[in-house]
Amino acid sequence: MADIRIASEASVTAAEPVAGRLARYMRGGTLSLAALPPLSLYVHLPWCLKKCPYCDFNSHELQGELAEARYLDALCADLEAALPFIWGRRVQTVFIGGGTPSLFTPAAIDRLIADIRARMPLEAGCEITLEANPGTFERDRFRGYRAAGVTRLSVGVQSFDDEHLKALGRVHDRAQAIAAVEEAAAAFDTFNLDLMYALPGQTLAGLDADLSLALALAPPHLSVYHLTIEPNTYFAKFPPVIPEDDAAYEMLDRITERTSAVGLQRYEISAYARTGHVCAHNLNYWQFGDYLGIGAGAHSKLSFAHRVVRQVRFREPRLYMDNAIAGRAVAQSEEVGIGALPFEYMLNALRLKDGFRLAEFGERTGLAITSIQSGLEEAERKGLIERDLARVWPTTRGFDFLSDLQSIFLPD
Ligand SMILES: C[S@@+](CC[C@H](N)C(=O)[O-])C[C@H]1O[C@@H](n2cnc3c(N)ncnc32)[C@H](O)[C@@H]1O
Ligand code: SF4
Repeated sequence: MADIRIASEASVTAAEPVAGRLARYMRGGTLSLAALPPLSLYVHLPWCLKKCPYCDFNSHELQGELAEARYLDALCADLEAALPFIWGRRVQTVFIGGGTPSLFTPAAIDRLIADIRARMPLEAGCEITLEANPGTFERDRFRGYRAAGVTRLSVGVQSFDDEHLKALGRVHDRAQAIAAVEEAAAAFDTFNLDLMYALPGQTLAGLDADLSLALALAPPHLSVYHLTIEPNTYFAKFPPVIPEDDAAYEMLDRITERTSAVGLQRYEISAYARTGHVCAHNLNYWQFGDYLGIGAGAHSKLSFAHRVVRQVRFREPRLYMDNAIAGRAVAQSEEVGIGALPFEYMLNALRLKDGFRLAEFGERTGLAITSIQSGLEEAERKGLIERDLARVWPTTRGFDFLSDLQSIFLPD
């Protein structure tokens, strides 16, 4: 998906001191936000046992010992330097993602959560998710995360078929995947299972088998992603043979049908949940809430009274650690131009089955609804959205052609 960011000023790099950057963010401007949106915290742990050939996340194959303590020191320094930008705001959700966060020991995750709690107020009952890979699974590890304060585990299964797992370069097999999900279910009140479909050589019957096993494990939340061949990955260089578009659509229909039959509601384009189990952290992204991202390559979106700002941390783990410990983790920051805000909002909000409240569009972007009026009319004419006086939401057709729908709102 296009990641379009239009800066209204030149990008500013790490050399700028925090005080100067803060003064710039706080000064007056043409945009006016009546209130700041909910704030989430994202923590990126960038290492994996092995780089998967389809993956374009900021993940790095672990060479030698895991630099756990130094990385935690860097995260602490990063967080402390970021506090002035979110002063006085409570954190609604925390997501510890990767990479493979489950490479870190429960003791390290315990220290991380304690470090966070000591520096920023977390909302009571704050959702704290940790991503786990079945290849790093050992008995009682998940209970250790639970004891450290993690409330929700997200298990990256991808498939339960050993052939597919091999083709995807995964470090785990079917048996490990099942054991990991069973352990997640035993240790957590809520957890997510990640699957991918339209895999190399996958048939509809193969997908059905994956779904049957996934649903038998009764995850309260399921994410199912269409395998995307991302640029700059091994698969982009050596493309595997994947199912044709028609076959992939048929698979998606099957996923929608079977998840709904067991009470999992598709609340976002790729996410299905039982009542009470939606991912509050991801929901905040899709509702154009704010997030502070700490860790190597983490992205932030932060609102101020007169602007919305995006920041990116240094990507390479060693470079990140050196710079974060020196108090300058941010490699790049830029203001989102007024012209780009409607598209950025719609890119996220239209992923949600229930769409968005018209009032919320104004609250989050500081713009009048007239800034998307012609787009809404065009999308409605094409049968891609429906609306009433309070809300706008994508139709089934809008969900099927989501990128067409989103691109209607691209800036001229
Ligand atoms: C950042 S990964 C984190 C999980 C963990 N690192 C793992 O792989 O088990 C989040 C999820 O994104 C999905 N994903 C990653 N690359 C993808 C791609 N190229 N196409 C579709 N889904 C992808 C996978 O389902 C993965 O579990
Ligand atoms: S384990 Fe996850 S983050 Fe790591 S390379 Fe594979 S898909 Fe990417």
